[in-house]
Amino acid sequence: MNILLLGSGGREHALSWKMVQSKFCTQLFIAPGNAGTAQYGTNVNISVNDFEAQKKCCLENNIAMVVVGPEDPLVKGVYDFYQQDEALKNIIVIGPSAYGAQLEGSKAFSKKFMQRHNIPTAAYAEFDATNFSAGKQYIAQHSLPIVLKADGLAAGKGVVICTTHDEALQVFEEMIVNKQFGDASSRVVIEQFLDGIEASVFVLTDGKEYKIIGHAKDYKRIGEGDTGLNTGGMGCVSPVPFVEGTFMQKAINRIIEPTINGLAKENINYHGFVFFGLINVNGEPFTIEYNCRLGDPETEVVMPLLKNDLVELFLATHHSELHKINITFDERTCATVVAVSGGYPGDYKKNIEITGLSNLKITQDSIVFHAGTKQVNESVVTNGGRVLAVTSFGENITDAVQKSKAVLEQIHFDGMYYRKDIGYEFEQ
Ligand code: AMP
Ligand code: GLY
Repeated sequence: MNILLLGSGGREHALSWKMVQSKFCTQLFIAPGNAGTAQYGTNVNISVNDFEAQKKCCLENNIAMVVVGPEDPLVKGVYDFYQQDEALKNIIVIGPSAYGAQLEGSKAFSKKFMQRHNIPTAAYAEFDATNFSAGKQYIAQHSLPIVLKADGLAAGKGVVICTTHDEALQVFEEMIVNKQFGDASSRVVIEQFLDGIEASVFVLTDGKEYKIIGHAKDYKRIGEGDTGLNTGGMGCVSPVPFVEGTFMQKAINRIIEPTINGLAKENINYHGFVFFGLINVNGEPFTIEYNCRLGDPETEVVMPLLKNDLVELFLATHHSELHKINITFDERTCATVVAVSGGYPGDYKKNIEITGLSNLKITQDSIVFHAGTKQVNESVVTNGGRVLAVTSFGENITDAVQKSKAVLEQIHFDGMYYRKDIGYEFEQ
């Protein structure tokens, strides 16, 4: 079948890499894609949110399946658009309905969902302009630190961890009164701070059954030793030593199954991924967040470790046949190290030539995934903050990270930076 993948990051390069290995994939189209996805299919210059242009592309290219990478089109209703269109309704869309995507698109929705299903998460309250003064009182009495979250999507910037009451009051006012994130911050969730190490688990579900397709630990801070500003993710490792075993079993029993059962009980139309953002508080799993998609750069380690045919998994999801699938994983360890543009996550330049890609000395253990790149004539140039994610298999985390760094040493673009300490706490 012909497949259209929406997105343009490292996640989409990893999904393309995996999908073209499927016996069910005839031709792959990526909208809009990057210089890496172009190696596996046809990039089409269509935005992930331009559903009408996607419709034209689907009809022209006999697309039978659409796989949605990022959250934005899901929250904006891409699934529902295809379902409601006479010409598109038979296309299989991998991604939840707009209603289901609120698990990520509205913090207030996801917190209420967790409460209804007794899923462990931080204690919270929600406020908007109508109960703004009650919110200020709530903050004044809250223990420190306090976590403030804009309800809606805020490009990864909507969560602020405040260490003083004054700062929390300022952020609260900035979000609600000054509409810092527009409508996304007209409602704010105020949450108890949970202290622990985070990891994420990825599930594919049809809203009734589910399969765990992988897990990972992301390194979010720009600086080594987890210092400096938050980013989209500077690197990942999988499997994560503390997740395997008891912690995962607790997460399945207390969080993953109650979530899927909750989707089923509430009849929520959900055929896609759930990203469980978990935190380990003294050995006990709590839910920090849900995302309605795969993570980036988590996908760059999850896809290489997953042995199954991914398109077969998507078909099983669509046909409610996930119970027929046996998931198997590569037994090795995987790590990815992300190279970013100078200045990221602040301002950075684009269109900088990347050299070294065409004559890499690379073994079968490493894969160079493109994130923010673009082909311009014969050159590949930077086109985003996160530029490349180099994934490697290894005997252990240290070995895998070492191999990725050896590949990155051969690549250059002005301002290029990557963390050399991914996986540092698991060093062997
Ligand atoms: P979210 O968008 O909800 O994932 O939040 C972004 C990041 O903020 C998370 O990955 C955590 O590192 C941090 N965070 C969110 N909520 C909490 C919390 N209740 N306690 C501690 N850290 C949190
Ligand atoms: N790496 C975190 C995310 O994809 O949200």
